[in-house]
Amino acid sequence: MQLSATTLVVDKVDMPSITASAFTSALSQAANGVSVVTTAYEDMEAGLTVSSMCSVCADPALLLVCVNLDNPFCALAEQSGRFAVNILPSHCMELATVFAGLGDQPEQSRFDSGIWTTLSTGAPILTNALVALDCKVDSTLVKGSHRVFFGEVVDVRTTSGEPLLYTDRRFAVVEPVPL
Ligand SMILES: Cc1cc2nc3c(=O)[nH]c(=O)nc-3n(C[C@H](O)[C@H](O)[C@H](O)COP(=O)(O)O)c2cc1C
Repeated sequence: MQLSATTLVVDKVDMPSITASAFTSALSQAANGVSVVTTAYEDMEAGLTVSSMCSVCADPALLLVCVNLDNPFCALAEQSGRFAVNILPSHCMELATVFAGLGDQPEQSRFDSGIWTTLSTGAPILTNALVALDCKVDSTLVKGSHRVFFGEVVDVRTTSGEPLLYTDRRFAVVEPVPL
């Protein structure tokens, strides 16, 4: 069926919208990997647990992560121009909880959990991350409550193992399907 330009404009005007809770409830059914994104500037560091990380394109090597504007990570990553994505292995659920602010650990001592190092940019890299992606900030944009960080991956470290997942508002692990 061919749509005329007029039909498209009318459709856009009449398009219904859904509530934020319908949106989050629907997307809670998706299964996502869990990462801790980190940044550092001078003697300050910030990090949070995210499930929004995804690849954008391979050439150039770009990924994105969406971070709530209230999170201190946003200001620090913009200042430093760098961040790291630490994709968590299945045994790092406790660390994911700490960096989501769900435990009773104060924000300033989150990095006491885990062993940290750096690669090229100086952003904190978790030594036992399943995959660590060291990025320089390519660009950012604000959409609603979140800032989208596009990161150009300048260094990467991979290990092997199973990833930690998040689905149906809880952590989960991969159960391989028998062939
Ligand atoms: C599995 C999981 C995924 C999350 N994904 C994101 C995300 O993609 N972006 C985001 O801004 N916050 C995300 N959060 C929330 C943050 O980790 C954090 O709880 C929130 O920003 C409050 O952080 P604060 O305690 O550092 O202020 C996620 C939390 C969990 C448990």
